[in-house]
Amino acid sequence: MSSPIATPDSRNPRPARPPVLEMHDVSKAFARRGKAPFLAVTDLNLTVRDLENTGEFICIVGPSGCGKSTLLHLVAGFDTHIPPTTGEVRFLGKPITGPAASRGMLFQHYSCYPHLSVIDNIAFGLRLHGRALGISDDEIEDAAFRWLELVRLREGDAGKFPHELSGGMRQRVALARCLALKPRCLLMDEPFSALDEPTRLEMQDLIVELWSEIDATVILVSHSIAEAVYLADRVWLMSPSPGTIVSEFTDIPTPDPTVPAMVAQSGPEFADCVAEVSQTFYDVLRAKRDGLSPIHADGTGKGLPAEDEA
Ligand SMILES: Nc1ncnc2c1ncn2[C@@H]1O[C@H](COP(=O)(O)OP(=O)(O)OP(=O)(O)O)[C@@H](O)[C@H]1O
Ligand SMILES: [Mg+2]
Repeated sequence: MSSPIATPDSRNPRPARPPVLEMHDVSKAFARRGKAPFLAVTDLNLTVRDLENTGEFICIVGPSGCGKSTLLHLVAGFDTHIPPTTGEVRFLGKPITGPAASRGMLFQHYSCYPHLSVIDNIAFGLRLHGRALGISDDEIEDAAFRWLELVRLREGDAGKFPHELSGGMRQRVALARCLALKPRCLLMDEPFSALDEPTRLEMQDLIVELWSEIDATVILVSHSIAEAVYLADRVWLMSPSPGTIVSEFTDIPTPDPTVPAMVAQSGPEFADCVAEVSQTFYDVLRAKRDGLSPIHADGTGKGLPAEDEA
């Protein structure tokens, strides 16, 4: 017979942690003059759990115009996107009603303030939110220099202005500015796509290396399947417009911070995984071209012709 006396755990059960992100039946349609609204994304249903002392790294891939940025902007809470046309976007259990320092955003371009020095760019968010965060000017200065170093810029770069930096250096500054605020969720929209290949791989190395510092959920949009497979714990594939998540890949290699991206991405296990995602990507595009429904993440495979019919 079980004891009538409640154990400490049953008296005070630990509150369940709400997911970092939830979307339920979310769609977003944009108004068009003289025309019916344009449905950019639809049927978005997803959950990203709040894992203790770590965050998930999710990469989104999909054809151009399928709504990857739209999904990210819904999470960022931009007023062009919030509220969604249908459904609800929740962050840590609460509906998203606007942007917040806890959700940092890194764009492909224009991520630095041109009139501010490197160190002032990095300190920008900290100064903006410093009072609310209860941090002093000295602490802001220390944090900015710490992040300058963490993103592998030199002290000598602190006084430079963005126009004096390479594209890779500018993205390091933007990354440091986002991360200095210790966001719970970092949103990145094709952050490395304007960079040349070696710099892009270097930035991927940096992200993997900083992973232990970040302790945040990361959602990164990429046009590179290899980049997505390399960085992500989960890859979401979106269908052509109106976009929805049609496949999720979870069985992918975890990056080893001691192995450079350039080396890790030349291995056979990595190549197999990229090939699997690429094949599904192609199948989804082909289904759209043939006027069939896309396959779905639950494996229902609606509309795709059998292999022998293809
Ligand atoms: N604010 C807006 N107003 C009207 N239409 C928009 C708006 N934002 C996006 N759209 C439209 O929604 C669709 C999805 O756009 P989105 O930028 O999300 O695509 P994407 O997948 O990020 O594309 P890309 O890979 O080219 O960046 C596009 O057809 C775009 O024109
Ligand atoms: Mg985009």
